[in-house]
Amino acid sequence: PEIQTGQPAGQPATKAEARQRKAIARSVLMCKPEHFTVVYRINPWMDPALPTDTSLAVRQWQTLYDVYISLGFDVKLIDPIEGLPDMVYAANGGMVIDGIAYGASFTHPERQPEGPAYMKWFGDNGFTVAVPEEINEGEGDFLLVGDTILAGTGFRSDSRSHQELGRVYNREVITLTLINPSFYHLDTALAVLDSTPGQEHIAYLPSAFDAPSLAILQERYPDAIIVNETDAAILGLNSYSDGLNVVIASRAKDFERQLIEHGYNPIGVDLSELLLGGGGVKCCTLELRR
Ligand code: ARG
Repeated sequence: PEIQTGQPAGQPATKAEARQRKAIARSVLMCKPEHFTVVYRINPWMDPALPTDTSLAVRQWQTLYDVYISLGFDVKLIDPIEGLPDMVYAANGGMVIDGIAYGASFTHPERQPEGPAYMKWFGDNGFTVAVPEEINEGEGDFLLVGDTILAGTGFRSDSRSHQELGRVYNREVITLTLINPSFYHLDTALAVLDSTPGQEHIAYLPSAFDAPSLAILQERYPDAIIVNETDAAILGLNSYSDGLNVVIASRAKDFERQLIEHGYNPIGVDLSELLLGGGGVKCCTLELRR
């Protein structure tokens, strides 16, 4: 993969502990929101009474796609399916590590057909598919940090899927329980900034987690960036990092400031239309790890 190093010009790190950040171009899967709309309500962000603008959603999504291309990412696309308006949130389509795609099995009937659609894409594109037995919503709830998988539960993925995930990948899986319905997927409450083993770095919203989960996060990631409620409330944590460049919601200003202090290069995008469905940058991004 392409490697880019160094501090962004004119943005010297101000934190003593800020380290040299390193970009590794990612391979990701996305789904163009050609059929995006809000016609059901499965999270507090969604209101079918509010109008949505599908062409604006497509234009905003295109800006995210263009940013990834400019960062040298290999971006794959899955065809959107009519009648599956949430398919744009590709993160939920599964989890992919070591060329093995653990498929999704959605909580809500409205999204259940997406599971097989994504598994078909994985199979057609050279990934080994692990068909899930347990309810899970893919990278929405599972985040790889170093060699550990942080796994969310409470609203969507069943904690039994965490054990299944551990068996599929033979990696440590840490269960984290979410308690605020507005932050119903782990990737709405926690962002992986650096996944390099030995220098793992994350950002999170403490109030989204129950006390035991918060204690685990504090113990394992003492230098984490703590994101405030204002930035979290526009899904600012729902961001995607290549180790140096962090693509975030452009309105998440305090998070942006903290990222710069820690030596990252934040890149803001506006996905306001997709926020109407309860998703942001990370939700639209499924990492493909060969
Ligand atoms: N409307 C979708 C749902 O409620 C949004 C999914 C957002 N995805 C995510 N990875 N957080 O399922």
